[in-house]
Amino acid sequence: MRLRKSINNLRREYKLNKLSEETVQKNPFKQFELWFRNVIKLDLPEQNAMVLATISKNTKPTARVVLLKGFGKLGFKFFTNYNSNKGKNLKENSSASLLFYWGVLERQVRIEGKIKKLSKTESKKYFDTRPIASRLAAWASE
Ligand SMILES: Cc1cc2nc3c(=O)[nH]c(=O)nc-3n(C[C@H](O)[C@H](O)[C@H](O)COP(=O)(O)O)c2cc1C
Repeated sequence: MRLRKSINNLRREYKLNKLSEETVQKNPFKQFELWFRNVIKLDLPEQNAMVLATISKNTKPTARVVLLKGFGKLGFKFFTNYNSNKGKNLKENSSASLLFYWGVLERQVRIEGKIKKLSKTESKKYFDTRPIASRLAAWASE
């Protein structure tokens, strides 16, 4: 009961930033780069964490956190196991959305599009850079 009351009373005034057509970059990738540079500069925790939402073939949506591992005009990169639930979802429906939320900056970035596989070479290259424990974890899990 008290918890419900506390939740109802949670309130925050958002007044740090404005998004204006005069100052926003025309190219959204460029805008993302500016914002992401800022996130890195401030050394925020989990700076590259993003929520990835996918849809199953029965149109059931699922969201989870993954880590951004690169971006550019071709898109946003992350790595996962193709046999995971998200991997299976994306095989059936390549539409997905990404969401970044940087609370201290009072900022979210919403991205929608199609997911494509990276090349085998790029996946392998990334895998080889990972610490041994992470590589073992990737082998052991989907
Ligand atoms: C901070 C954080 C970062 C994560 N990064 C990744 C990632 O880069 N790739 C990944 O496959 N899972 C990552 N995970 C785990 C996923 O959130 C998820 O639990 C897992 O991939 C299984 O998801 P699925 O069953 O929907 O496929 C991360 C979780 C957290 C909390």
